[in-house]
Amino acid sequence: MANKIGIVGSGIMGQGITQVFLRNNYHVTLIDISDEILKSSRENIINGKYGLNKLVEKNIISNNDVNKMMDNLETSVNYENLRGCGLIIEAAPEIKNLKISILENIEKNCNKNAIIASNTSGIMISELSSKVKNKSRVIGMHWFNPAPLMKLVEIVKTSFVSEETVNFIIDLSKKLGKEPVVVRDYPGFFTTNFVQSWLFESIRLYEKGIASIEDIDKMAKLGFGFPMGPFELMDIIGIDTVNEIGDYLYSETGEMGKISPPILKEMFYSGYYGNKKIKKNSNGGWYDLNK
Ligand SMILES: NC(=O)c1ccc[n+]([C@@H]2O[C@H](COP(=O)([O-])OP(=O)(O)OC[C@H]3O[C@@H](n4cnc5c(N)ncnc54)[C@H](O)[C@@H]3O)[C@@H](O)[C@H]2O)c1
Repeated sequence: MANKIGIVGSGIMGQGITQVFLRNNYHVTLIDISDEILKSSRENIINGKYGLNKLVEKNIISNNDVNKMMDNLETSVNYENLRGCGLIIEAAPEIKNLKISILENIEKNCNKNAIIASNTSGIMISELSSKVKNKSRVIGMHWFNPAPLMKLVEIVKTSFVSEETVNFIIDLSKKLGKEPVVVRDYPGFFTTNFVQSWLFESIRLYEKGIASIEDIDKMAKLGFGFPMGPFELMDIIGIDTVNEIGDYLYSETGEMGKISPPILKEMFYSGYYGNKKIKKNSNGGWYDLNK
């Protein structure tokens, strides 16, 4: 069914992507590892910071619209429920081996012609699809946070994906009100290399004592018009995710600038995963250091 979408992983990104599809009248099957997680994700889709109720408050949609959209959302811990989906988007944690096995598992459970997309921030799609048999229908569909608001979708094209798959994702992104840009498969694609160099340089300048966390964020916003500073952004993305991406980009490219700076590693190992309200089990983020 072309209007039935599967989303695997109901965290920050999975919730946002689900919301975009629900608002565009798609039926979504959202998969995670426990019913408890799925219950809280469902709640966030309605009442979270970027949830549907925020649109009700602004009179963009009605309570009745929200009820109708939520009727189109099915949650499950069972991958077999992906059968019947025309597209499945993987939005599980940025852990390479986990994603490889998830993509393999998706292919085993979905329809033969379904397209499998990964929302990875930067792991090569060729590697994630190494255990998928039909590589012509695997593609990168990289959304940005918060997914309901951010316009860009970075589409990642391997040498093995079919033109039909690429065109389907381009057209779909436009239909959802997004701006697609197609890039080649490469560690970090374009956007993650770009943002990571900005984030890591900010950390290195902070470590050298050039300016405080607060002031660096202030300078980025007031001097360059960024909507938020690098430290605020990392607290939202998650220190764990930023660190994992750093490890991956360094291991793939050998470029010294890609190595996670020491303080980021310390935070990661000490359970500082970012904004406590967003990241489950986090001890805090950059603004909680030295408290
Ligand atoms: N957070 C961001 O700003 C951002 C932006 C763009 C892309 N991404 C990418 O999106 C992906 C998801 O990131 P996130 O921030 O939403 O992570 P998250 O940790 O908030 O959510 C991941 C979810 O996947 C679930 N999960 C774990 N193993 C699973 C399995 N085997 N099957 C199904 N679900 C499973 C977890 O329980 C969790 O709910 C990552 O690849 C990340 O790099 C993140």
